Amino acid sequence: MTIIHVDGTQYVVDGSKNLLHTCLSLKLDLPYFCWHPALGSVGSCRLCAVKRYHNDQDCQGSIIMSCMTRAIDNIFISLEDPEVKEFRRNILELLMINHPHDCPVCEEAGNCHLQDMLVMTGHYKRRYRFNKRTHYNQYLGPFISHEMNRCIVCYRCIRFYKDYAHGNDLGVYGIHNNIYFGRVKDGILENEFSGNLVEICPTGVFTDKTASQQYTRKWDLQFAPSICAHCSVGCNTSPGERYGNIVKIDNRYHGAINHYFLCDRGRFSYGYVNLLDRPRWPQALRPDHTVELNTLEIMNKTTTILKNAKKIIGIGSARASLESNFALRELVGEENFYLGMTGSEQTRLSLILKILCQSGIYSPTLREIENYDVILLLGEDLTQTSPRLALSVRQAVKNKSHPEDDHQNEKNLGALFLTNIDSTRLDDIALWKYYASPAEQARIGYALAHKLDSNSPKVSLSITLSDQVNVIAKTLQKAKKSLIISGSNAGSDELIKAAANIATALKNTSESEVGLILLPAEVNSIGLGLLSRNIKSLETAIEQLQNGVSDTLLIMENDLYRIFPHNIMDEVLTKISNVIVIDHQNTKTIGKANIIFSAASFAESTGTVVNYEGRAQRFFKVYDPSYYDSRFQLKESWRWLHLLKCQLTTSNIKWFNIDHVIQACIESCPKLKGIKDVCPDVKVRIHGQKIVRKSKQYSGGSSILANINVHEKPIPQDPDSMLTFSREGTNNPFVERQHISFAWYPGWNSPQAWNKFQNKIGGTLHHGDPGQRLIKTKKDKNFSFFESSVEGCNNETEILQIVPYYHLFGSEEMSQRTPVIQKCMPSTYIMLNNIDANQLGVRVKTIVELSVMNMVLHLPVKVSDHLPSGLIGLPLGFPGLPLCLNGKKIDYITNIHHK
Ligand code: FES
Repeated sequence: MTIIHVDGTQYVVDGSKNLLHTCLSLKLDLPYFCWHPALGSVGSCRLCAVKRYHNDQDCQGSIIMSCMTRAIDNIFISLEDPEVKEFRRNILELLMINHPHDCPVCEEAGNCHLQDMLVMTGHYKRRYRFNKRTHYNQYLGPFISHEMNRCIVCYRCIRFYKDYAHGNDLGVYGIHNNIYFGRVKDGILENEFSGNLVEICPTGVFTDKTASQQYTRKWDLQFAPSICAHCSVGCNTSPGERYGNIVKIDNRYHGAINHYFLCDRGRFSYGYVNLLDRPRWPQALRPDHTVELNTLEIMNKTTTILKNAKKIIGIGSARASLESNFALRELVGEENFYLGMTGSEQTRLSLILKILCQSGIYSPTLREIENYDVILLLGEDLTQTSPRLALSVRQAVKNKSHPEDDHQNEKNLGALFLTNIDSTRLDDIALWKYYASPAEQARIGYALAHKLDSNSPKVSLSITLSDQVNVIAKTLQKAKKSLIISGSNAGSDELIKAAANIATALKNTSESEVGLILLPAEVNSIGLGLLSRNIKSLETAIEQLQNGVSDTLLIMENDLYRIFPHNIMDEVLTKISNVIVIDHQNTKTIGKANIIFSAASFAESTGTVVNYEGRAQRFFKVYDPSYYDSRFQLKESWRWLHLLKCQLTTSNIKWFNIDHVIQACIESCPKLKGIKDVCPDVKVRIHGQKIVRKSKQYSGGSSILANINVHEKPIPQDPDSMLTFSREGTNNPFVERQHISFAWYPGWNSPQAWNKFQNKIGGTLHHGDPGQRLIKTKKDKNFSFFESSVEGCNNETEILQIVPYYHLFGSEEMSQRTPVIQKCMPSTYIMLNNIDANQLGVRVKTIVELSVMNMVLHLPVKVSDHLPSGLIGLPLGFPGLPLCLNGKKIDYITNIHHK
């Protein structure tokens, strides 16, 4: 227990932190710039000065930097002493000497830590009358604007970019009064987390270029708590809306998951919500055009089709909410409901769920990953598939490892071992990396498990690999905490089994605290797996449609052209009489539909998704599109589907709000009962008030539609949450709630306002972090080692097998529709091993012809030194490269010039 005295008041605190951290945790207002809870202290700005006294009799005291001094027991400090207040005011004046007075045109204004500190320190009068220092601004790519004149040299940007995220293309140059933060030359920032500069920078040096294009001040935006939809990690976000467009995405603090940072895909991919070609009202296809329908017309039309259907097949989606998938299952019946993923993906998902539920091995959160000593990564290119998780792996390894130290494993320091098909962005911190086919990687995994516990199945390895496996086994056994990571994206169930075997073996035979993370493919894959008892694959559905067993297909939020080859989908969809699609994007599948329901995207709907840990989280409607245009009929898919079911069965509507569908879902699937506790009931109020989506300063609310009608439109009602589309309500950080639309507190307009929402700085929110774990892992007595089927495999069998390459920008379905992301997507390609390329007589950029599953592709060649011979790398998920090609053997490959 540590007691500190601040301005005559005694506080009991955690004495492990510095005084600044401690004062902020006590909710005292103490100005600062260069310190950041995730980056620590460097003492460069001198703004956090406090007066320190020797004892309670000392009236003189001396000025110290609170971020550089520990909160030791019985320390006496003052924040309010006139001398120290004057000191802070003078420091601010000094920092402002070169800062332009450009708030009216600066994108940061209203969201600016510098502005807040200016007000907090009371520096109001500018006395400097000379020329200000000016800098050249650089082009840093489509995401970030650069305005170096605003820099106050706090070094936060470089400490995040270089020290935290390990980016190496942003540096600090110059000397004395002429310091420059930028790149050696203009160019796109290469690091996958560059967007965090926008929130890290306390002034407007780095601002969100995507937001500037439809610029609105923070106080004029409408926010809601949301969940990033672009991988299975489930980072918490705050999308901001104005005039019916999502304008930006801010990080929403979550103490256990994303903490203060998002990846660039999560931050900048929102543009697909604003696309003009989205279906915004129900439509029916006529021979040469589509016609707009109202709700009654589409209900009547679809009900007639469904009533007369021979057999209906319903295809769900791992990018849709649990509620929507449940509603589809209710409509078509469990026997006709398909998860919307390939059979092999479904097998891997079942495997992941089985291990998650029965292995008794804990799946850590992102924050917990940072405390693991030794990490083994099998076959997942984390930076491309689950980037925020890769950033946590970096933190785990960063302060513990010395990549150039050959004896590191003997010293039992932190270490990362990884296997993949090719080099990855985590190679720079890996103590050992190995490139092989998925089967060969699994073989190493099985051998490692056997080394750790001889009850695990044995596989043979080369002598060199055996030696390395011995080293990894020893390091894992000696670690205090060891973590195994694998997942579904490599397309190999053997890799998942091998990872589970290693974790089980380690748990059986060592003292090490063992963690296991198995990453599913999409944001709600785990939720869908928990919902479904159906084991029929999507291929079975396609077969039934091809054979004429079924004549009616209902597809919800899923583009089948992304999963199966065009030739197959064209054939299937033209053969059947009725294709009904519910989606919020104008996909290729929608192009084949004769009935289109306009679904709401994540920004216009409320729903639940379940992340890789089994944590259910709720995302909330950010705005109501029909407020801006009454023609828009965007409903949650579950609302459309329930209406259909009621009309079909001539029953009364039962689901008026999300609580009703959740209740029905739990009754049907008790495994999901935790989703009810993810969020309070829709009727819950805090001291009689709803939680606001808008700040108190929101302007123009009553005149936003005055160009259309001078009569003020009533604000929309939200039946699905305790949030209101208004500024009248509560945003009090201390009241009992976990869902926070945006970070704002009197005097704190920037993201630093999260200080006020945390029980202690960098900890959980006052009333806990959002989300409920649905899966409490428990060792099942029947759960044991998986048998290996890789023994006997050799490279012969893998010749010309397709393996997936993933890209942060391009591989994920929704983000690849966003125009700014498209600018960063590589073009499609085929990756060949050097030797294979030579044998084929092709070089980089040569066009080759590839045939697989009766598709003929013409693609330019890329050559890799690491991809094993016999494997063919394709960026699956890119337009024209369907996911089902993962693991397929090709028919032939040829240099088209040799044909
Ligand atoms: Fe302490 Fe900058 S915050 S010196």
